[in-house]
Amino acid sequence: MAFDIDQYTNNSVGVTWTDLDFSVFETDPLPESSLRTLRYMCDIEYHTVCYLRDLLTTPSHNEPEVGAFMTMWNREEFWHGEALAAVLAVHGVTVDFDELKATRLKLGWKDRLDPIKQSVMGGLVGNDFVAVHMAWGAANEWSANAAYQRMAVLEGNPVLGELLRRIARQETRHVAFYASQARDRLKSSAKARKIARFALSRFWGPVGSGVMDDSEVTHVMNHLFAGSEGRKLVRDIDSHIANLPGMTGLTIVEDSLEARGIAA
Ligand SMILES: [Fe+2]
Ligand SMILES: [Fe+2]
Repeated sequence: MAFDIDQYTNNSVGVTWTDLDFSVFETDPLPESSLRTLRYMCDIEYHTVCYLRDLLTTPSHNEPEVGAFMTMWNREEFWHGEALAAVLAVHGVTVDFDELKATRLKLGWKDRLDPIKQSVMGGLVGNDFVAVHMAWGAANEWSANAAYQRMAVLEGNPVLGELLRRIARQETRHVAFYASQARDRLKSSAKARKIARFALSRFWGPVGSGVMDDSEVTHVMNHLFAGSEGRKLVRDIDSHIANLPGMTGLTIVEDSLEARGIAA
């Protein structure tokens, strides 16, 4: 089914959480390793703003539907960051958006550029660039959705579970946009299929790698995806990616787990 961008932009709202009683964490705090994972997720959600700034210089910005989507998408991700920051705040962990943004922007353009952009900016224009960007985004959103759903299951706390499921539902809509765009655009261009496959297999890494410390990436991967149940979820993500035109047989997420030595 085609993604209805008008409906999406009309209905886009921040994830609601003020109805959730975060004071439960005062008597029943989350364990240290969960806070570490939430801190990572919060940081990455907030980082979307920096990422978007880079993308505004790419051909994707000139595509009306993609541009409209990214504006709302960016806001939704920011609100995910805010909700997670509120949970962390009850635990005495402060994640300050302005501070984080200032630090990241100070790193300069070059360091923050996504490998996708470094690898393809040179030769790719128009539909072909956007196709690669959309395939990359789809892989990331599938991962985000799986991560939130998995954490909701792993973490027994019902308040946290409800918040994470609400966030995951919005990630599902992000998946729908990126995947439908990627499908259509890859289908129409052999060049885009070839470069998307190359970029994903060569450069893709778990969301947040390249931004966060490597030890944090490994912690989150271990926390959420170690063991047979985690591995099964990771294979599901890979099978979605492999279903995109020209991506048959790719196992980039599982490969990244293995590269980090995370046991099935
Ligand atoms: Fe998000
Ligand atoms: Fe998302």
